[in-house]
Amino acid sequence: MEFQIYTGNAAAVTTDTLVVTIDADGALSEAAKAVDAASGGAIQARVDAKDASGALGSSITLYGLSGVSADRVVVIGAGEANATLNAVEANKVVTATAKAISGKAGTAAIDLTALTSANRPQAWWAEQLVLAVHSAEYKFIATLPGKEAGPKLESITWIGDDVTSALVVADAKGLGTSYAKELGNMPPNICTPAYLAEQAEQLSAAAGFTCKVYDEKEMEEMGAGAFYSVSKGSSEPGKVIIMEYKGAGDEAPHMLVGKGITFDTGGISLKPGAKMDEMKYDMCGAASVLGTMKTLAELKPAINVVAIITCAENMPAGDASKPGDVVTTLSGQTVEILNTDAEGRLVLCDALTLGIRDYKPQTCVDIATLTGACMAALGKVNSGLFTNDEDLAEELTTAGLYTNDRVWRLPLEDDYQSLLDSNFADIANIGGPLAGATTAACFLSRFTQDTRWAHVDIAGPAWGGDGTSKGASGRPVPLLTTYLLNKIA
Ligand code: BES
Ligand code: MN
Ligand code: ZN
Repeated sequence: MEFQIYTGNAAAVTTDTLVVTIDADGALSEAAKAVDAASGGAIQARVDAKDASGALGSSITLYGLSGVSADRVVVIGAGEANATLNAVEANKVVTATAKAISGKAGTAAIDLTALTSANRPQAWWAEQLVLAVHSAEYKFIATLPGKEAGPKLESITWIGDDVTSALVVADAKGLGTSYAKELGNMPPNICTPAYLAEQAEQLSAAAGFTCKVYDEKEMEEMGAGAFYSVSKGSSEPGKVIIMEYKGAGDEAPHMLVGKGITFDTGGISLKPGAKMDEMKYDMCGAASVLGTMKTLAELKPAINVVAIITCAENMPAGDASKPGDVVTTLSGQTVEILNTDAEGRLVLCDALTLGIRDYKPQTCVDIATLTGACMAALGKVNSGLFTNDEDLAEELTTAGLYTNDRVWRLPLEDDYQSLLDSNFADIANIGGPLAGATTAACFLSRFTQDTRWAHVDIAGPAWGGDGTSKGASGRPVPLLTTYLLNKIA
């Protein structure tokens, strides 16, 4: 997408679609006034006729106004004047605006300046709008021969302050988010661990990242018995992918670790059949890490990031792990596998050990569709946040609120650790029926030493919808990219 900034008369801006706002009292924004004046009162006439109400997120389109350069003018309702909008309300305006301008080729000019407030400056509206346009234009067609991607908006003219950098950053975040959606939606017979490794290699080659892929045999030989215990039951070989982006010299990197279970049957602790297809989304943590790297590839910010993507397929098989098996992790700690469906923590724990050992990161965030319990607690709105570091809690919470990709902190207290006690190993891989999201996080915490670490459980937000509207959300790419970029802001 191309971007321009415009500060002149809105009626004179050359564009296909011009977006202006009115509020719930029927008051016109400055740009709406300019269009109204040039067109002999075309907007005011619609307000008087009650066609345009100004209700939050409402929208009407006027065509071929005389004296106005734009082909069509969309009047968006900004709601109550000077209201402090919460995330849901603000999103209504953003979505309505994105809907009005996306899905067609050409250009759009947008004036949302009347919505500017202390906590939602113009840069915020610009960023959210561009993300929403990417979202509106995303369509999965990879396995639908004959279907074509829809037309894409070519350029946005922002009427107001110079928010160019917010627009460009958002464009890169949108690209990363759509990439994560695409990987998430890809069927599990295509999106295997080897496929994710290929994607990482291609992205790295194009962006100049270093990329190393360990196959499951190398992981086993290295001593990553937990990872191997999951991958060995599948004929699709597991892979651990490490990508390095260096934008800040020799500084210790920030690490991201993504769960990439390309299909989770549960293994010998087999899942019930209903909706099992959705377990193709069990690699959405990995997808979000790749999506974030895609955004970094676009922006090349001054930061060092190491991405570890831990990929396997969790299958029942003659050589699959059994409940009761004891395996030795890369850390040396032994694990009693009481439930083979708690496989995410098994692939993650060895990735955490490997990453912390080899990269000594200044922070580490893992992202995983880890527990049904987290989804039961938080639904699809918030991701679960668990962390041993107050600053990380603050940074991730703030980034999530800013970009409406929110997290809600859940406990990670030592009191829960004893639920993982085992008679036969250092630790069990499940903690019983209570506090399932927390015991999963407690399990991971045994592998993070004193690293500043956060675990983001995206079991709820990673995908949504039913039937034909079902699809990956691309979350938490907006959160992760915002969090990382805030470090250099
Ligand atoms: N991938 C699942 C978690 C999941 C379930 C994510 C539903 C999204 C929707 C994970 O591997 C899993 O099976 N977890 C078990 C853990 C249990 C056996 C302790 C779960 O949540 O049931
Ligand atoms: Mn599972
Ligand atoms: Zn899983």
